[in-house]
Amino acid sequence: MAPSDDNQQIYEDAGVIDVYREAGRPQQAELNMFEPISEELRAGRLLDIGIGAGRTTAYLAPKVGHYVGFDYSHGLVAAAQKLYPEAEILWCDARDMSVFEDASFDFVNFSFNGLDSLDHEGRLQVLAEVRRVLKPGGHWMFSSHNRDYYRRGLLPWQPPFKPGRVMLKKSAEAIAARKSWRKLRKEQVETPVYALVNDEAHNYSLLHYYVTPETQTRQLEDAGFTDVRVYDQWGTEIDGKSPKSIWLYYDCRRA
Ligand SMILES: C[S@@+](CC[C@H](N)C(=O)[O-])C[C@H]1O[C@@H](n2cnc3c(N)ncnc32)[C@H](O)[C@@H]1O
Repeated sequence: MAPSDDNQQIYEDAGVIDVYREAGRPQQAELNMFEPISEELRAGRLLDIGIGAGRTTAYLAPKVGHYVGFDYSHGLVAAAQKLYPEAEILWCDARDMSVFEDASFDFVNFSFNGLDSLDHEGRLQVLAEVRRVLKPGGHWMFSSHNRDYYRRGLLPWQPPFKPGRVMLKKSAEAIAARKSWRKLRKEQVETPVYALVNDEAHNYSLLHYYVTPETQTRQLEDAGFTDVRVYDQWGTEIDGKSPKSIWLYYDCRRA
């Protein structure tokens, strides 16, 4: 099974679904990206990919002209439909969005690093599909793990770390999850373009795609996007490396 198929299975796990049921408010970078374009959003159609149990549905559905959300976890789609019965929510895999017509959305969003669940081939398929369903000039917004992150792939006790209660708590969690990371660390990948990294998410049960902002920007331009803007975890626009930020937010437009 490819790593991305294993990741997909994790999102069907009952415990993981419970985590997303509790998932809360918009993140600061999301507010910084969406609030300045609220007028455009009100008039537009937004496709929200990988919604989990609907954290972004709660924030975005009331702000846009028309909202459609989907996920490739059947369990999470059912949870989101129950929590937000008025919203249009369906099952779909972002690698094949043939249920949606060409140039039918003004905005496409894939929040909280959901794109990083996929392998390189899957990621390029999603970029091609997003470009196809977006209208020319439409916004493509997502977040993705930062390959420059200074603690990328380290276990909590591996330096550099800040000693203290957080480090001890994270170490205890990692020890409890040792069966999973011992297996997945052997499947980690480093290439000139990206890395597949087993990080602490969902008790070290996933492999995530990590990419530098320079490479991600090139990948977006190659896939037919332009005007790429990058924000750090705290919502500040950056131009260059940001090693303290574990993930980065991207906003670009269909060329
Ligand atoms: C880290 S979770 C974030 C969930 C939600 N967006 C949030 O912020 O709470 C990533 C989500 O992306 C979904 N996902 C990953 N790959 C996907 C794909 N190819 N198609 C649709 N959903 C996908 C997962 O099922 C999961 O719900």
